[in-house]
Amino acid sequence: MDAKTIKEKAEVEIWQYVFGFTPMAVVKCAIELEIADAVESHGGAVSLPDLASAVACSSSALGRIMRYLTHRGFFELNESTNQYSNTPLSLLLLKNGAKSIAPFLLMEASPAMLAPWHRLRTHVSLDGGSAFKAVHREDIWEFGSQNLAQSKIFNDGMASHARRAVSEIVEGYGEVFEGIGSLVDVGGGDGTTLRCIVEACPWIRGINFDLPHVVSAAKQGQGVEHVAGDMFKHVPRADAVFIMWVLHDWSDDECVQILTKCREAVPKETGKVIIAEAVIVEGEEDKYSDVKLALDMVMMAHTEKGKERTVEEWDCVIKGAGFSSYTVKHIGSIFSIIVACP
Ligand SMILES: C[S@@+](CC[C@H](N)C(=O)[O-])C[C@H]1O[C@@H](n2cnc3c(N)ncnc32)[C@H](O)[C@@H]1O
Repeated sequence: MDAKTIKEKAEVEIWQYVFGFTPMAVVKCAIELEIADAVESHGGAVSLPDLASAVACSSSALGRIMRYLTHRGFFELNESTNQYSNTPLSLLLLKNGAKSIAPFLLMEASPAMLAPWHRLRTHVSLDGGSAFKAVHREDIWEFGSQNLAQSKIFNDGMASHARRAVSEIVEGYGEVFEGIGSLVDVGGGDGTTLRCIVEACPWIRGINFDLPHVVSAAKQGQGVEHVAGDMFKHVPRADAVFIMWVLHDWSDDECVQILTKCREAVPKETGKVIIAEAVIVEGEEDKYSDVKLALDMVMMAHTEKGKERTVEEWDCVIKGAGFSSYTVKHIGSIFSIIVACP
């Protein structure tokens, strides 16, 4: 690309950043109005007046929302029937869709999670500090324990990701669960991850381990026992540990402490710790590179010292926690599967 073309491209591209919040806000609005669900309940195709009456909106304002979302690939407008239908993108917003990401977006777009972004500079400045604490005066977990409605928004968001994540793991690396009698999910949230694992691998007895305020709000039953506690102090014993999207919330030293407790919780000869986390491979692009780097920024906004790690950084914390060996498997997802042996 020549210099003139690059400059012209920049002139257009910069507006994506100026109005960068717009897509998130409009998609949030579409989720709250349950537009994708309304399209489905009209047999998959609906005119604007029928859609407006189904979601109780003004036709003219909804028409502008639909024009924007259609332009962004969320809906399709059939020019001859003047009816909207869903696309693969809008189907991910269905309220009860198995692959719905709607609760995750509602969590990230919630005022409590958006506010720390305005203090990102606090995190980066030389004297350091937490953007989340600068706004909420507590870290994200203390804040959740004092604000149970926000904690539910958070756990629902995590659960929607967990349903998708487990199906990706089972499909891409199902054998990782073979031969496991009992599995403890450390920082397992409301237990959705384990419920999905046990459903796919019914030979496993699941132990969901998380902070007391999270576990006390979790659904009971379905082959999963809930245990409340602090992973820095103790991890319940099991044949294997599963730990997803927990270590990225913590510093290297804290990860070493958590992983040491995980290692001590499984049998020395046969046990394993299954880590589901992003692995940044510097100098190599994959379809999720942009998402992984964005997730690293999310860690800056929402945690004190959390980060997404490169292979070398994972090597450091895993060896630091005393594991004798580990493998990394990329399953074509945002996260990879690291299996560490005691
Ligand atoms: C980012 S969420 C991941 C949830 C779940 N693993 C998933 O991927 O859906 C991190 C989890 O760690 C839990 N957590 C934070 N501090 C903890 C602690 N000290 N002991 C146990 N769990 C903790 C949080 O309550 C939260 O459920």
